[in-house]
Amino acid sequence: MAEHNADRDDNPTALVTGGARRIGAKLVQTLHDAGFRVIIHCRRSRDEADALAAYLESERRDSARVVTGDLADPATCERVAEEAIAQWGRLDVLVNNASTFYPTPVGTITADAFDDLIASNLRAPTFVAQAAAPALRERGGAIINIADVHGERPLADYPVYCAAKAGLIMLTRTLARDLAPDVRVNAIAPGSILWPEGPAGDDPTKRQAVLDATPLGRQGTPEDIAGALLYLVRDAPFVTGQTLAVDGGRGL
Ligand SMILES: NC(=O)c1ccc[n+]([C@@H]2O[C@H](COP(=O)([O-])OP(=O)(O)OC[C@H]3O[C@@H](n4cnc5c(N)ncnc54)[C@H](OP(=O)(O)O)[C@@H]3O)[C@@H](O)[C@H]2O)c1
Repeated sequence: MAEHNADRDDNPTALVTGGARRIGAKLVQTLHDAGFRVIIHCRRSRDEADALAAYLESERRDSARVVTGDLADPATCERVAEEAIAQWGRLDVLVNNASTFYPTPVGTITADAFDDLIASNLRAPTFVAQAAAPALRERGGAIINIADVHGERPLADYPVYCAAKAGLIMLTRTLARDLAPDVRVNAIAPGSILWPEGPAGDDPTKRQAVLDATPLGRQGTPEDIAGALLYLVRDAPFVTGQTLAVDGGRGL
């Protein structure tokens, strides 16, 4: 949110995609704590999104709403952005957080998996940002794309996911040029923060290998990502087009 245009006393609003659970929910809570009205987007996690919204509403009235939709569909991306803007008639911050993550080893890549991984990690951020851009421009707003250290550093057996996040990092840079000077666009590239749900995250040997490959020797926390988000949204008015690694050194 650019200092020159934003009015902090006037309840800026933020849309977080995939904001019902895990890292997304922490980003929602953090923006809310910082005075934002929040629009929590979810697809399947409606109950969690409603519970989070109810909790935030109990902290501050008229401060949290839920919008739903599968962002694999570009028309839904547009609708989600429009509904988010319509909640309070403005949008100051868009956080593209929703993502799918699973392996696609060479030899097993299907067109469906390719489309699904690209749709959630690259196409959705593109179309939500496009639909949100006019409202963000009006407010001198900001877009934060949640990328991955593996958008720059390959992860074995995840070629499609890595390519999608690499595309998201380049989207960040190109949108930063195209939407300047009104809207700043930055990305955060997390390292290991929360283990993936399901088989991809369950294997203790793989978990240890991730920790061994992280110079700081541990996972980060959702709070680490939230801190980077607040910096980029609130405290970095001259920063645009950047990808901030929050990865314990994993990218080195
Ligand atoms: N976890 C980590 O350690 C880590 C590491 C590096 C990067 N990241 C990045 O950080 C972000 C958050 O990570 P996370 O692990 O918290 O994410 P996650 O739990 O894997 O996914 C977040 C949400 O994305 C939503 N989503 C997925 N596909 C969607 C679609 N087609 N349409 C709409 N929503 C969709 C889901 O919402 P519903 O539940 O409502 O369906 C899901 O809850 C992601 O961008 C991820 O790539 C995470």
